[in-house]
Amino acid sequence: MKPGVFVFRKLPHAHLVREILAPVADVRENPREEALPPGDLIEAAREATAFLPTGLDPVGAELIAAAPGLRVIGNFAVGYNNIDVAEATRRGIAVTNTPGVLTAATAELTWALILAAARRVVEADAFVRAGKFEGWRPGAFLGMELAGKTLGIVGFGQIGQAVARQALGFGMRVVYFSRRRADPEVESALRARPASLEDLLAGADVISIHTPLTPETRHLIGEAELRKMKPTVILVNTARGPVVDEGALVRALRDRRIAGAGLDVYEDEPRLAAGLTDLPNVVLLPHAGSATLEAREGMARLAALNIKAVLTGERPPNLVNPEAWKSA
Ligand code: GLV
Repeated sequence: MKPGVFVFRKLPHAHLVREILAPVADVRENPREEALPPGDLIEAAREATAFLPTGLDPVGAELIAAAPGLRVIGNFAVGYNNIDVAEATRRGIAVTNTPGVLTAATAELTWALILAAARRVVEADAFVRAGKFEGWRPGAFLGMELAGKTLGIVGFGQIGQAVARQALGFGMRVVYFSRRRADPEVESALRARPASLEDLLAGADVISIHTPLTPETRHLIGEAELRKMKPTVILVNTARGPVVDEGALVRALRDRRIAGAGLDVYEDEPRLAAGLTDLPNVVLLPHAGSATLEAREGMARLAALNIKAVLTGERPPNLVNPEAWKSA
C-alpha cells in the first residue's frame, strides 16, 4: 500500500500536487477551501504518512499524535508558526515550508499597502464611488510622499530584503532591524543600514514588518513601541498578526498618534480587533500576501516536492527541523 498524503484544503493548483505525489503516494484531499471540523480532521489524519496543511491550519501535538505513521508535515506556507515543530522533531517527523516562491508576491503586496496607506487610496476610492467627487480641490486627500523618506524594515529575511530592493526605486532610505546582521554585500547592494529597534521606531517614516512569528517576536510592536514612532508614520504588517498588539494599534490610530497602517494579517484571524474597521486611516486586506497565481503554483510544487523527497528517503529541500532528519 502506498503512503497516504492528506491535503488539508482544496488548493488552486491541486493538479500539481497530484502529479508530483501520485507515483509515490495516495493523495487524499479535503474538497473544500475551509478547514475540516476537528473530529473529521483527526479521522483524516489517522492513516496519513504526510500532512500538507496550509499556514492557517494548526498542527498541534494532538493532531500529530493522531497520525502514528506520520513522517512529514509539508507546510503550504513559508511561515510555520501553525505547526508544533518541537513535537514533530521529538517524534522524528520532518517539517518543511515554501520559501522563495512567495517572496515577490508578498513584497509587492507590502508596497500595495504602503502606497494605499500613504496616498489614502481606499478612502479616496470610496469617496469617488459615493458620488462625492465634485471637482479638484487643493487640499483634498493629501498624503505622504515616499521619495526621500526612511523605510524601517523589521525582519530582514528574503521578503524584507525584497522590499528593501524595491524601496530603491522609490528613492527611499532603508534601515533594518534583524536578529542577524546581513552580509556587507547585501547591505551595500540594497543601501540598507542596520539599526536598533529603538532607533528604527523613532526614525522611520514607514515601518514594515517581515519577521516570522516566534515567542520573541510576539507583540514586538506594542503600546510602548507605537509611542516611540513619529506621528506621521505608516505601519504595515504582511508577516503575522500577533507580532503587533492589535488593540494597541487601534488606539494609536484612533488617537492619531500614528498616521496610518496597512494590515494583511491579524492577531486572531479571521477576527479583527474591536474598532479596527471603523478607522479611516487603516487599509485592511484578507491575508493575501502570497495570493498570486505564480506564488500559489510555486507553493504547491514546493510543498509536494518536499513531501515526495521524504517519502522516497531523500532529505527535503526546505527542511526546517534538521534535528528530526538526523534522528530519522
Ligand atoms: C503565508 O502567510 C505564508 O507564511 O506563506
